[in-house]
Amino acid sequence: MIDDVAHARTDGLTAIAAARTMDELRAVEADLLGKRGPLARAKAGLGSLPAEQRRDAGRALNEAMAAVQAAADERRAVLVAEVRRAQLASERLDLTEAHRKPSRGHAHLVTQATERLEDTFIGLGFQIAEGPEVETDWYAFGALNMPSSHPARSMWDTLFVDHGPPGSTVLRPHTSPVQIRVMETTPPPIYVVMPGRVFRRDTADATHMPVFHQIEGLVVDRGITFPDLAGTIEAFTKAFFGAEFTSRLRPSYFPFTEPSAEFDIRRPDGTWLELGGCGMVHPNVLTAGGLDPEEWSGFAFGFGIDRMAKERHGVADLREMFSNDIRFIEQF
Ligand code: PHE
Repeated sequence: MIDDVAHARTDGLTAIAAARTMDELRAVEADLLGKRGPLARAKAGLGSLPAEQRRDAGRALNEAMAAVQAAADERRAVLVAEVRRAQLASERLDLTEAHRKPSRGHAHLVTQATERLEDTFIGLGFQIAEGPEVETDWYAFGALNMPSSHPARSMWDTLFVDHGPPGSTVLRPHTSPVQIRVMETTPPPIYVVMPGRVFRRDTADATHMPVFHQIEGLVVDRGITFPDLAGTIEAFTKAFFGAEFTSRLRPSYFPFTEPSAEFDIRRPDGTWLELGGCGMVHPNVLTAGGLDPEEWSGFAFGFGIDRMAKERHGVADLREMFSNDIRFIEQF
C-alpha cells in the first residue's frame, strides 16, 4: 500500500513537471487527484488495512496528496506566467519605431531617365526649360506652322480642355509648344532642352500611354545647318547610350521643321530603335517665336522618355511603370 502511494506520488510529480500547457496540467491533475485516480483508490483501500498499518499509510497518503497538489500549484503559476509573457510580447507596441528613420525611397525610373537626359544635355552645353502642360491652340499647333484645320493636326490625338471657346485649350500633345515659349523669352543663341509630361488620346497598351513624357531640344543661332543637327544627335547618342551606339536620320515630315527626319539609334547588336523626330526649325516657326528667319536658323528634336527608360531597363510593358506597384518600382 505504502509502495503504491509512493509510486503514484513519483509518477504524479513527473507528469506535473512535464505538463507544458494549462490544459495538459488540468488533465494531469484530474487523473491524479480525481475520484478514480491512484490516490483516491489508495484512500478507499485504507479502511481495509489493519489498524497498525493504517496510520502510516494514511500519513504517506496525505503527504503524497499535499506534495502533488503543491507541485501542481507551482507548475500552474509557472505556466500562467509564461502565457502572460507570450501575450505581452505579441501585443508589444514598439514605441521606439516612431523614432527610427523612415526607409528611404528613390526617384521613379522615368524621373531617373529625365535627370540623366538633362545631365547629358547639360554636358553638351544645353540649358533646361519647362512650359505649361495645358496649352492654347496657338502654342500647341498654330505657332508650330499648323493653322486651324491643317490636316497635320491629326498627327496628334489631342485631348481638348473645356475652357474658353471650344477647341481653344488643349492638354499639350507634345513638348514642341515650349520651343515657342523659349523663343519668346530668350534672345538667341538658344541651346535648350525641355522635358515634360504630354497627353494624347491613346489607349494604354504595352508601348503607349495616354500620359507620357518627352524631351524637346531647340537650338537657334547664326549659321546653324543640318549637319549640326546630325552631329548633335550623334554626340548625344554616344554620351547617353555609350560609344558602341550610333545614330541615323531618316527623311520624315513635321509641319514645324523643314527638312524633317526621324532619328534612330543603332544598338551594338546591330538592331535599330526609333527614338523621335527632328529637323531644321521652319521659318514660320521662328517668325511665330518672334525671331527673324533671315538672321537666325536652328534645329529641333523631340523624343519619348518613357520608352527610353523601358528600353534601358528591359521593361516589357509600359503600363508596369505606372501601376504604382512598390515591388516593381523598388527594382530600379
Ligand atoms: N513634336 C514631335 C512629336 O511629338 C517630335 C518633334 C519635335 C519633331 C521637334 C521634330 C522636331 O512627334
